[in-house]
Amino acid sequence: MKKIGITETILRDGHQSLIATRMTTEEMLPALELMDNVGYNAIECWGGATFDVCMRFLKEDPWDRLRKIRASVKNTKLQMLLRGQNLLGYKNYADDVVEYFVKKSIANGIDIIRIFDALNDFRNIETAIDACKKEGGHAQATICYTTSPVHTIDGFVEDAKRLKNMGADSLCIKDMAGILLPYTAYDLIKRIKEEVDLPIELHTHYTAGTGSMTYLKAVESGCDILDTALTPFALGTSQPATESIVATLSGTEFDTGLDLSKLGEISNYFSTVKEKYIKNGTLDSKVMSPDANVLIYQVPGGMLSNLVSQLKQQNAMDKYKEVLEEVPRVREDMGFPPLVTPSSQIIGTQAVLNVIMGERYKMVTKETKALVRGEYGKTPKPISDEIIEKILGSKEEVITCRPANRIMPELDNMRKEMNGYFEQDEDVLSYALFPGVATEFFKYRQAEKYGIESDFTDFENKVTIV
Ligand code: CO
Repeated sequence: MKKIGITETILRDGHQSLIATRMTTEEMLPALELMDNVGYNAIECWGGATFDVCMRFLKEDPWDRLRKIRASVKNTKLQMLLRGQNLLGYKNYADDVVEYFVKKSIANGIDIIRIFDALNDFRNIETAIDACKKEGGHAQATICYTTSPVHTIDGFVEDAKRLKNMGADSLCIKDMAGILLPYTAYDLIKRIKEEVDLPIELHTHYTAGTGSMTYLKAVESGCDILDTALTPFALGTSQPATESIVATLSGTEFDTGLDLSKLGEISNYFSTVKEKYIKNGTLDSKVMSPDANVLIYQVPGGMLSNLVSQLKQQNAMDKYKEVLEEVPRVREDMGFPPLVTPSSQIIGTQAVLNVIMGERYKMVTKETKALVRGEYGKTPKPISDEIIEKILGSKEEVITCRPANRIMPELDNMRKEMNGYFEQDEDVLSYALFPGVATEFFKYRQAEKYGIESDFTDFENKVTIV
């Protein structure tokens, strides 16, 4: 009998997708011991947007959160999501930063690192995979699932083979937008299982209302592990619900071995947490109702809630539909990148600008330029000369090497730049990823520590578009 593993996402993707990653460490702590006793394959609790949001909005040290979680979760593996050479930021970092970040993540408690590159340019995940293995971590290499004229099942199978050859301990098929349909999932996973001997974990979102069906077909096709979120932070733009999947597979050859009553107890707790976010308006009903538009626009859950909040801040919610329609056009112009951080933010922000300015590419962000210039890596389809000229002015600037080859070691300089804010070795990494945000956070932390009045009351509202 094959036991299906369940990775619980409520501490990371669940709340990232529904409440813009605002769940605090304090709100997590009371549930951790119960969660540790469930028998999950892993608990995803760190990485993704959690790192940025901790410092930027919650005034928390993300490293401290990880250590606190590790202290309570003694038996279950802790998993994080890492954007390859982008780490948890939005650009490529030097190899020394990537290596040190991976080392410190594992030293502070992470067991499994799911590593992806937004363009599926695997040159961008090599350093992180090697570092993870060197530190004794489990390197889960990722294929970002997307559809386009240049993405095929054969192509994804080749990707899987390459990832195995790069040393991956397991594979993740990351369907960040919730567009992987049940029968495609079946064909895709069956093909990969036939040709690559590695455990496969499937990650989807319930955005279009298809996620649970996709999981069922995936399980039938040989998938080993599923990502789910406990009911209070499941469905909508989040994952299929843990309890529903566990109940569905219970007593079959795919039983998860998890106990529904234990899960219910934890969900009862998180329901009280959810109440707060309903009351304060953070949980927008828009992200909770099934949206089949995602099948057309491919906008992932996190991006959808970001677009909503960007447009609300600009008082331009009436442009929502127009922006959604502009997203796939910008994506085609950019060579069909999968929409996932950071490409989702780049494409999303550019789509917002194209609509709000009333003319396409009248205003171009520096990230759009970097993407076109090849600074994020190779796009699935080459970008047309016409778009390159329009955005860069000249074709000469485009690069084709692994982008990080052009970045000199950064850590020593970062340490010098930080002058005085060090409380722990890890601070240099927080600073390397988000210099501005980290500096403000360090000031706040210092003020708190010494009981000094701090003038950072407006901290939360400073940065809007990322
Ligand atoms: Co996700």
